[in-house]
Amino acid sequence: MRSKQLYINTIGCQMNVYDANQIAGVLAPLGYTGTDAIESADMVVVNTCTIREKAEQKAFSFLGRLAKSKKDNPAMIIAVGGCVAQQEGQAILQRMPHVDLVFGTHAIFRLPEMVRRIEASRCRIVDVRLSETIEIDDPTVGSLVDGQVAAFVTIMRGCDNYCTYCVVPHVRGREASRRPDRIVDEIRLLVAEGIREVTLLGQNVNSYGDKEGLCTFTELLERVNAIDRLGRIRFTTSHPKDLSEDLMRAFGRLEKLCRHIHLPVQSGDDEILRRMNRKYTRADYLNKIERLRKVCPEIAVTSDFIVGFPGETERQFQRTLDLIETVRYDGLFAFMYSDRPLAPASAFSAKIGDAVKKERLQALLDLQETITREKHADMVGRILRVLVEGTSRDVDLPGSADQSRNIRWTGRSSSNHIIHFSAPQEGSPEKEVLTGKFADIMIEGAYAHSLWGRMVDRSEGSTSEKGEASIAA
Ligand code: 5AD
Ligand code: SF4
Repeated sequence: MRSKQLYINTIGCQMNVYDANQIAGVLAPLGYTGTDAIESADMVVVNTCTIREKAEQKAFSFLGRLAKSKKDNPAMIIAVGGCVAQQEGQAILQRMPHVDLVFGTHAIFRLPEMVRRIEASRCRIVDVRLSETIEIDDPTVGSLVDGQVAAFVTIMRGCDNYCTYCVVPHVRGREASRRPDRIVDEIRLLVAEGIREVTLLGQNVNSYGDKEGLCTFTELLERVNAIDRLGRIRFTTSHPKDLSEDLMRAFGRLEKLCRHIHLPVQSGDDEILRRMNRKYTRADYLNKIERLRKVCPEIAVTSDFIVGFPGETERQFQRTLDLIETVRYDGLFAFMYSDRPLAPASAFSAKIGDAVKKERLQALLDLQETITREKHADMVGRILRVLVEGTSRDVDLPGSADQSRNIRWTGRSSSNHIIHFSAPQEGSPEKEVLTGKFADIMIEGAYAHSLWGRMVDRSEGSTSEKGEASIAA
């Protein structure tokens, strides 16, 4: 079979990254292999996102530029997948004559057949059918890059929460969970390929398996925790209303579960939370944070925020800043509210102007920057265990005495801090390969978004976490 070149452009969240890998996996039997050279590609897949207007614009502007590529290379198949494809369907074919295929978020496993049909007869196809259940659930590894240490594993798809600002339930469909044995099998395959860390993905992992009567999310974590040679488990996202006592306790007892939780709060004001349909109050949220920190004092907490939700007053915004000061997050993502036509809040009145949204975003980010700086300063002198992800040549490490004899590495702590460090080459002509191994790093300083330090000890070839951070004398 002739090898054909596949170029995938992925925009958006980790789900899309996982999906891109699945797309590469299902197209491999048709002879497609990945390429970085778009102009000579036989097929280009644009994996789109519609969570905010900007992401959607990004997809359309990339698709617009592909018209020229198709003119130069008329045999090129152009396929649009992901959330914009699901939302716009047929309209994309009408608007963009150079597009051959529009496939929705549930259509990935039907791709091979559709691509075969296009190859044979150059027809144009739209498939945006959504189904209530997961029809095909084969463990698939897709295409991993050389030396890849961490991978995503989708454990459920869709969302039933209907937050009023959010398009996800409308483009990813109803919540449906994969079977635990399939998930465990997929992770075993990944581990056999050298993966040491998995991030389990779902819009609301806490309701994993509820509908289908599968095991609970905590039971799934226990099964994943027992997989031999897997080093670390992360997950995202947990909805605050469903964060169970059971899951909180898992942070204190499952040794591979990273001590980090991403718990999006969106706003610190009860009235805004109610109008967002979040189904928890500020007090509920703060109680859960307190409980989490009791069970697992070293846990890092991050969150998502939306500023300028329709009708948000200055006082309500101040409540959000106050919540940030109360929780003292380890990091956060903040977004200016953006109308999504399928989401109910797009019809809410009292929209906030761009200038105010920008001002609020800046105030929020400035506050978090101060907190991050203080938290980073507190970490200097600690030893953190890092799972090494690879080298980081372009990072300057202050204080590493003889740079020429050192290799600069990068990895993450259990708390999800990015850490750069140097390790001596120890005179060996072959550089010592730390990628995929754990190293203990003495933190010596911080950049704005990462930490740096030096290696103090390494558990030879160890793939387990054992003791987490300890305080240096
Ligand atoms: N406008 C701005 N931000 C949004 N998010 C989701 N929908 C919107 C929207 N319409 C943010 C939320 C969510 C994150 C993934 O994206 O903070 O947690
Ligand atoms: Fe969107 Fe809310 Fe579902 Fe998250 S929980 S995907 S914000 S509807």
